[in-house]
Amino acid sequence: MAIDTTIYIQTPDRTSAYLDWLQMLTGANLVLFMWSHMVLVASVNLGAGAMNTLARFFEDTYMAQVGGPIIGATFLLHFLLAARKVPFRVEQQSTIWKHSKMLHHTDTWLWLIQVFTAMIILIMGSIHMWTILTDLPITATKSAARIQGGFWLVFYLILLPMVELHVGIGFYRIAVKWGFIRRKERKGFKKFENLLTAIFILIGLITIVRFMTLPV
Ligand code: HEM
Repeated sequence: MAIDTTIYIQTPDRTSAYLDWLQMLTGANLVLFMWSHMVLVASVNLGAGAMNTLARFFEDTYMAQVGGPIIGATFLLHFLLAARKVPFRVEQQSTIWKHSKMLHHTDTWLWLIQVFTAMIILIMGSIHMWTILTDLPITATKSAARIQGGFWLVFYLILLPMVELHVGIGFYRIAVKWGFIRRKERKGFKKFENLLTAIFILIGLITIVRFMTLPV
């Protein structure tokens, strides 16, 4: 007879509390990075010159060369910390799926979206960072040529909503889990988070269209 080990609950200790803190801190840093990243890439909407000037500044000050790998390392550390709770095994996945359907609780579904988008971002984000950081300097023309090639257009059309959902839900969950917002404020904050996610997806899409139309 099979024993359902997926319902075994480990008693949390002090170490897991510290690791939870670190997970939140790395996540919050990545949220801030992604918001800045979107604004920086969207500078191309003000003209290729604006994006090139910003990119040159980040490279001349070595922020891209040093900051890029730091973001990459934070990204992997954040994944390792979150992986402590991710249901990787099929039995665990089937249990969490059954429980989620039973609970009828939006925030539980948000957590599942968070896990699903994380797996896609882990792979696609790593490929993206490697591609960009091994092909410096960043220029608007190079980015446009990449996207007009077709492959990266499809790639970004998948990665963009995955990242923005993950960032938006992550931001909301940090606020709920660590008590920055109270229970009665949750509904309003969730609406704000949805609006923020939609705005960033829209900015990303406008930027992609700009890259598609930029002469290369
Ligand atoms: C390590 C530092 C990073 C640098 C220097 C960087 C740089 C860039 C650049 C130059 C573009 C323009 C398109 C291109 O040239 O192909 C871009 C687009 C994009 N990046 Fe990054 N990136 C970094 C990290 C990340 C991470 C960690 C993610 C998410 C996991 C991400 C997600 C995206 C997305 C979704 C787009 C498309 C933007 C749009 O819709 O306009 N990037 N990035």
